[in-house]
Amino acid sequence: MRKTIIAGNWKMNKTPSEAADLAAAIAKITDFQCEVVICPPFVDLFYAKRAIEGTAVKLGAQNCHWAESGAFTGEISADMLIEAGCEYVIIGHSERRQYFGETDETVNRRTKAALAKGLKVILCVGELKEEREAGTTESVIERQVRLGLKDLTAEEMANVVIAYEPVWAIGTGLTATSEQAEEVCKFIRSLIAELFGAGTAEETTIQYGGSMNAKNAAELLAMPDIDGGLIGGAALKPEDFAVIIAAGSAK
Ligand code: PGA
Repeated sequence: MRKTIIAGNWKMNKTPSEAADLAAAIAKITDFQCEVVICPPFVDLFYAKRAIEGTAVKLGAQNCHWAESGAFTGEISADMLIEAGCEYVIIGHSERRQYFGETDETVNRRTKAALAKGLKVILCVGELKEEREAGTTESVIERQVRLGLKDLTAEEMANVVIAYEPVWAIGTGLTATSEQAEEVCKFIRSLIAELFGAGTAEETTIQYGGSMNAKNAAELLAMPDIDGGLIGGAALKPEDFAVIIAAGSAK
């Protein structure tokens, strides 16, 4: 049985003191049967970690460089994240690809480095609005999945989660319908089967992300190939995040 994972991507929100408060509110949500992860900004990690200490809530970061250390101003290493208490790291989020020059190749390098250090990777893929309209969704997803997972082993895939996030649905309030989301998540699973075997595909958690909220989470998570959510806006509201976690627990 693959894991259901509900992860909150806080993006560039919350100062350290605000992060401590939000993490403390999330730490009060104790009654869940799925994996729950929060991914605050780097400077908030220690504070969030302290607030969730002793609970089952896990900590993640939003990016990780491929080098161990060195002259990479503004970047962060896997060792730094691990020592700050991270178990997960988001790689290749569409905002990184759109605004910070992230490519399939750098996504792959970051993924391999994070896995080699023992982090679990939430690898994001997703098509732009124009790509969906042009009917190229599957070819875009296929390229991102193949290149993002290039040279990984089936063993390493045990620590990889794929997040399908259609770019047109992120932060827009325009959620993909559960059928649209299911169709692509199922397609991603078929690609993983082709690359790593049917067993690995069955075990891999595939999340949906893009305006998932307290209202639509249950319906999306009821789909057979949607094993969790990567949540932005709604992850900043503890009451809403709690409802999404409950929907994940019911899966
Ligand atoms: P959203 O963001 O839930 O605010 O749409 C999701 C994401 O970008 O991970």
